[in-house]
Amino acid sequence: MLKVDIQGNQIDGAALATMQAEITTAHRKLLAKTGKGNDFLGWMDLPKQIDEKLLQRIEATATHHSEISELLLVVGIGGSYLGARAVIEALKNNFDMLLTREERHKPVVLYVGQNLSGDYLSELLRLLDRYDYSINIISKSGTTTEPAVAFRILKEHLENKYGTDQARKRIVATTDKERGALKQMADEQGYPTYVVPDDVGGRYSVLTPVGLLPIAVAGFNIRELVKGAVDMRSHLIAGDSVIDNPAAKYAAARNLLYRQGKKVEIMVNYQPKLYYFTEWWKQLYGESEGKEGKGIFPAGVVNTTDLHSMGQYIQEGERLLFETVLSVEAFNNNLKVPSDEQNLDQLNFLADKNVDTINQTAQTATMLAHLDGGVPNLTITIPKINEYYLGQLIYFYEFACALSGYLLGVNPFDQPGVEAYKVNMFALLGKPGYEKQTAALRERLERKQ
Ligand code: PA5
Repeated sequence: MLKVDIQGNQIDGAALATMQAEITTAHRKLLAKTGKGNDFLGWMDLPKQIDEKLLQRIEATATHHSEISELLLVVGIGGSYLGARAVIEALKNNFDMLLTREERHKPVVLYVGQNLSGDYLSELLRLLDRYDYSINIISKSGTTTEPAVAFRILKEHLENKYGTDQARKRIVATTDKERGALKQMADEQGYPTYVVPDDVGGRYSVLTPVGLLPIAVAGFNIRELVKGAVDMRSHLIAGDSVIDNPAAKYAAARNLLYRQGKKVEIMVNYQPKLYYFTEWWKQLYGESEGKEGKGIFPAGVVNTTDLHSMGQYIQEGERLLFETVLSVEAFNNNLKVPSDEQNLDQLNFLADKNVDTINQTAQTATMLAHLDGGVPNLTITIPKINEYYLGQLIYFYEFACALSGYLLGVNPFDQPGVEAYKVNMFALLGKPGYEKQTAALRERLERKQ
């Protein structure tokens, strides 16, 4: 089972205990569905509600696309792609792209519609002439600009390549059950659809078809992922103790540190495979907590790589940081440093040591150095990287995020701030209905303000 440890002189068991009453209130609100944003709590019971029929349908869709395609293009942004990417990147071979199809067995998953770069899209389009591919367009609202632009371009390529009828068999839409342009288009064009439940926000949606379908196409076991989440759910709803409930402990510890002036939380991991897990976490916590002038800023580093870049700041820069290390106990390899008779590189003191043991020692050494430098450390440990423990981790972070948002006093399920740039972008691009804003912004730009 996943566990949470706290280190550092700013927090200890006694300090944590001072948060118990607030945690109890937050836990109660969450379970009774009486807190802010309570119409978006569908993620809480989700792992238990995913039924056999849905799993079988997702697996059948995944098999179909694995058979006909070498690539799956996941077209989505934010919560509509980061969860799938976090899990797939954590589980796949680091050099997946270079494996042969026989070695890989499953399609390569590529991500599109998460940016507006013309280079990104046109370089991809040139490659798509060479590969058979399918598209999973994912948008809960069905109107988000980035994936909509990418999908329009890709759909044209797909139809030119396969013809309209065959192209239809290569598209799956994941969207709202009845609203939005994507749902309308899917119905008109006859694309199979999967539903994003109304009461599940984008960043909490990885355990819906939003995440499960791409993960299944990539060849990973979605049943184990769901099982991990189900087990974690039972554990987290059973009690609210800041000592025994890992989500309560993490939420209490990070809020305690925030109140002591630690405004930035860095998620640290020592496995490059977990880079996108950190990206998913950054969205979950940043979008849930960063509002009303409040919130911990979520950042991430991958060590030991970043110890040679950001390490200096973390050790000696402004003291507004704390770290949460995502630690993995066991590994899937037994790679050892060889002994060398000449020892010209003077590395024989490491001979016969497992590379991952050296990595773990780097982790311990760094934690102690950062504690000495005034950077409190929390550690979240999973026994190994597999579907089951990733499922635990996902549910743990979602539950802790909800508790933490309630401790902070915000609604952890809305994101009013993401609209501001959209209004400006639509106005500057001349979208009908934005004429007043267009004039005001153009005038501002002319005045250079
Ligand atoms: O968490 C969120 O709500 C956002 O990140 C959305 O997932 C993102 O903006 C994409 O929205 P949509 O799925 O409606 O295209």
